[in-house]
Amino acid sequence: MELHGKRILLIIAGGIAAYKSLDLIRRLRERGASVRPVMSRAAQEFITPLAVGALSASHVYTDLFSREDEQDVGHIRLARECDLVIVAPATADLMAKMAHGLADDLASAVLLATDRPVLVAPAMNPVMWNAAPTRRNSAVLKADGIHFIGPMKGEMAESGEAGTGRMAEPLEIVAAAVTLLSSQDKPLAGKRAIVTSGPTHEPIDPVRYIANRSSGKQGHAIAAALAKLGAEVTLISGPVTIADPAGVKTLHVETAQEMLSAVLSALPADIAVMVAAVADWRVTASAGQKIKKQPGEPPAPLLLAENPDILKTLGHHAQRPAFVVGFAAETQDIEANGRRKLDAKGADIIIANDVSPATGIMGGDRNRVTLIAKDGIAQWPDLGKDEVAMRLAETIAARFTSV
Ligand code: CTP
Repeated sequence: MELHGKRILLIIAGGIAAYKSLDLIRRLRERGASVRPVMSRAAQEFITPLAVGALSASHVYTDLFSREDEQDVGHIRLARECDLVIVAPATADLMAKMAHGLADDLASAVLLATDRPVLVAPAMNPVMWNAAPTRRNSAVLKADGIHFIGPMKGEMAESGEAGTGRMAEPLEIVAAAVTLLSSQDKPLAGKRAIVTSGPTHEPIDPVRYIANRSSGKQGHAIAAALAKLGAEVTLISGPVTIADPAGVKTLHVETAQEMLSAVLSALPADIAVMVAAVADWRVTASAGQKIKKQPGEPPAPLLLAENPDILKTLGHHAQRPAFVVGFAAETQDIEANGRRKLDAKGADIIIANDVSPATGIMGGDRNRVTLIAKDGIAQWPDLGKDEVAMRLAETIAARFTSV
């Protein structure tokens, strides 16, 4: 069931190849997809809405100005309530409308209103396919990110002419839909990511250490979200009590120095998200034996040395990952401090959060963050840490797919 649970909006335009759309509906549904059909007026000259409705087990949408349909679902909802739009057959006329943003009937209005991936299966006479306007329109549509399957070479159903213009077979369209949807689900496939998470523990002696209140929840959620989008993730975690996320390679470390060397050994990577609350200082010479209190004596002072800055090291490294994200845990001047860290640490994004005790963010399940990039600032609403993680993973994926 390669398309299990996927919602397909199938737009059928007017061409003789529309008869193949009936089989396409069956093939899509066999694989677990639900199909909502939209038919152009011309399509109804070739096949009937009755047949399309029976095969799809769905209402068939035909009219932009149908009072009932617009009240029931409406063209905007039709355009959005799906995972993929397939146009099969796509005629030269509908492609021209799409390329120019025309929206004078239901099919073209839905295509203009959708923010979902669109797969077109053109079908037309070879001379129409090769005509200069169709060449221009298909180039525009490809540049707009529209996906194509076919047309194929072969004999035309109506004229017997040979050439390129035959619609791809239903199973070829199904295969293209499966490939497209799986690449949409996993936009970070083939990318390697390193994530740090949790606190570090800096030993004072064998039983005591310096630590902080980080739970690792946010970092672990980010590692899981990146993996969900297809990245190969190495999570380097300080001591936490939460479970290793599924589908992620997790390495456990204690100190900042161990964390740094684990991060450097995980290079090369395309993405680095440094979420760990790394202790800024370590005890200069941690004692090999438990330090005993001396009655009547003041305690020996703890001498501290600065820890390596892992984010800064990566941000300026010869093998710097293409996309580096840092966190800024602040209690005041969140934006200004975040911007300063962006520059100083060589990051592409800083996720600044207010960790004042009143916010309950440290150790809690929710987070309210400000995303600071070189080209702008975005304040995200109060979200669960899993939601922040998925939004961030999607933001990172968008940076990779837009270049
Ligand atoms: N960080 C790091 N290594 C350190 C310290 C911080 O990798 N030794 C990373 C954190 O993982 C986080 C970012 O740097 O992504 C910011 O950490 P934060 O503690 O907010 O800032 P600091 O640089 O420590 O500055 P300050 O304590 O002055 O706020």
